[in-house]
Amino acid sequence: MSEIERAAGILRAGGLVCFPTETVYGLGGDATNPHAAARIYEAKGRPRFNPLIAHVLDLEAALRQAHFHAKAIALAEAFWPGPLTIVAPRRADSSVAELTCAGLASIALRAPAHPIARALLEAFARPVAAPSANRSGRVSPTTAAHVREELGERVELILDGGPCALGLESTIVAIDAAGGAVLLRPGVAPREEIEALIGPLGDPRSGGIEAPGMLASHYAPRAELRLHASAPEPGEAYLAFGAEAPAGGLSLSPTGDLAEAAANLYAHLRALDATGVPAIAVAPIPERGLGEAINDRLARAAAGR
Ligand code: TXA
Ligand code: MG
Repeated sequence: MSEIERAAGILRAGGLVCFPTETVYGLGGDATNPHAAARIYEAKGRPRFNPLIAHVLDLEAALRQAHFHAKAIALAEAFWPGPLTIVAPRRADSSVAELTCAGLASIALRAPAHPIARALLEAFARPVAAPSANRSGRVSPTTAAHVREELGERVELILDGGPCALGLESTIVAIDAAGGAVLLRPGVAPREEIEALIGPLGDPRSGGIEAPGMLASHYAPRAELRLHASAPEPGEAYLAFGAEAPAGGLSLSPTGDLAEAAANLYAHLRALDATGVPAIAVAPIPERGLGEAINDRLARAAAGR
């Protein structure tokens, strides 16, 4: 039996399988099984009011779960498979369990591009609920070794696909029945590209809807973070950008490439954290393109805990 078939069997039995996606590793369970959803919340230490993303193979599978406005269809056609999650009104006949959606009238859907994630979705032939495979409030895992550190014995299987190519979570856009569109979480799919297709995105803080998971303090390493730091102070490790790091530090991208910086962000935060330094100083990151998502994660990682 192939490892993918074994993984699908575990999901069918209500078990948990961690798998790579092109963004970060996911902690997967059968999205239609409330017991599997309960196990995901428990393994992550995540509050049950914070809903999970249901992963599907394609737009056709998503349309069985949600009502997609024309704008949502346009985004799915442009970005799927890929790093975009669409939150839309849940269909009354959706097969996804209430608990997966934390009882909301909406559902978050994403069709990932990673070949292992796609093989698993194809073999399982049902939506897979998967938050990032970290303990709640911690940095998302971008390698199988990170997943083992975070969840090790709490899951039945970890599929190892090597380091995630993109390294930051998907962008989340909510599109309601009337076509109102809100950016719930900046991510790898840049705002500019989304807005070029469907027009300006609203801000969740002014619109009422919010991703329940977007708590101020999140994605946090143990060390204190100091942002927009042009140089480290004594006792700080430096996370550089656009330059090599001084001894004891790391560079997100020596050449100032935002995609490289996004791919390195979580792994570098983990590596510096693991040295036991009390504080990490982070170089300024430009706010354009992927910079919006990188700065969002850094601000949350630095928020008072
Ligand atoms: O890249 C990603 O999106 C990764 C990979 C594994 O797909 N997944 C991920 O999941 O980051 P998670 O659970 O860590 O973050 C999903 C976010 C949470 O903040 C949650 O509150 C929000 O999506 N969300 C899920 N369903 C929602 C809904 N119906 N309405 C609003 N926000 C929702
Ligand atoms: Mg997460």
